[in-house]
Amino acid sequence: MILTPIIRKTPISIELKIPGDKSVSHRALMFNALAVGSAQVSNLLLGEDVLSTLNILQSLGVAVSFDDDGICHIEGSGGRFLEPSENLDCGNSGTTMRLMFGLLSTSPFNVVLTGDASLCKRPMARVTTYLQNLGVEYPNGFEFAPLTQRGKASLPYFEAQLHIASAQMKSALLLAGVQGNGCIVRGGARSRDHSERLMRSMGADIIDLGDGDVQISRSVLKAIDIVVPNDVSSAAFFVVAGLILQDSVIVMRNIGLNPTRVGLLLVLREMGAEIEIVNHHLMGGEPVGDIVVRSSKLHGTTLTKEIVPTMIDEIPILALAASQASGTTIIRNAVDLRKKESDRISTIVQTFSALGIEVTEYEDGLSITGPQSIGGGRVRCMNDHRIVMTCAIASLVSEGSIEIDSVDAVSTSFPSFWDLLTQLNGTVFNQ
Ligand code: S3P
Repeated sequence: MILTPIIRKTPISIELKIPGDKSVSHRALMFNALAVGSAQVSNLLLGEDVLSTLNILQSLGVAVSFDDDGICHIEGSGGRFLEPSENLDCGNSGTTMRLMFGLLSTSPFNVVLTGDASLCKRPMARVTTYLQNLGVEYPNGFEFAPLTQRGKASLPYFEAQLHIASAQMKSALLLAGVQGNGCIVRGGARSRDHSERLMRSMGADIIDLGDGDVQISRSVLKAIDIVVPNDVSSAAFFVVAGLILQDSVIVMRNIGLNPTRVGLLLVLREMGAEIEIVNHHLMGGEPVGDIVVRSSKLHGTTLTKEIVPTMIDEIPILALAASQASGTTIIRNAVDLRKKESDRISTIVQTFSALGIEVTEYEDGLSITGPQSIGGGRVRCMNDHRIVMTCAIASLVSEGSIEIDSVDAVSTSFPSFWDLLTQLNGTVFNQ
């Protein structure tokens, strides 16, 4: 796809509809599938990652259907999943695969979890080694998918110390603990806490021990209706678009504002961004609000180590904002970015260089000094949805055209991305 810059003569003021949150959608499906009772999930994200979760749950015998209003109806299995007759395909979704290890950790049958080329290269031992120590079996290896897992009906109590502040690891282990004999998971500080919130509202006995440490006891989850908030990680692309485009105001409503997810908004404000949040309320146990963003003059900043987990998916789009800010922005302590859908540190450096943006690469991050003009060119986005969307937003302020590969990758998390971009800049893309 070639994105040609257009010169807008009039100021833009627009409201964009951001789709449902990916992390909350996965959990709304999985936790209700595990629970007792039935539930309705509204505003579920119908991106490919969440559809992978949904298809797998159906293969495990969980009844899931949609009504004419698009509301998802799910029948809890009470943890009695059926042995699937096929491999469980997680597609591109690390959240699906890692949480499935936990969800199926007490199901005493073999499942084969597999995924696309990118997912089969991502590290799974960060979850499976803990479960293996509890007696869960991995007869064909435990590091990379495709992986066979055989759960153990009764898991012992355990304590785990995470070496990365990862919500996927934490959630997988909590799913094992809640079905087994309880656990304490330490070291997840500031990683997203959607699992804890949702399990608590479904009746789990879960205690926050401080500093992100969590204790859960064996509990039966009760199915609950959930309205999924809109995804702040998707809104992030249009937040930065609104800041770097001249004379613009962009409004996005009902965006999830969980404190473990809003690092980007805080950092951008510190960089001088005019981001207003109005209409604060609760949706599905999560704080939400409307974001109003206005064109702003940005300056560089240095990220603290603590804020990184709260904006781990937003580093690519922050890097773009940094290229338009005056001064240097330093992003470090983010080595896990190398283990995402692509090696995101390397992919940012490659794509930005192709566009004429200079970036300094570190093992655990990068730094960018701006403002830099974005020339244009051809980028290889390594099939990584968040890199594709970052390069597409770059085309709003580039001097020349940007040719992007793997454009379909956006369906992973944000199927309506191209429609919203078209609404914003009014252009028609050349395929
Ligand atoms: C997610 C957690 C994050 C994030 C991913 C979704 C989740 O990964 O990158 O897109 O829903 O738990 P880590 O927890 O591994 O950092």
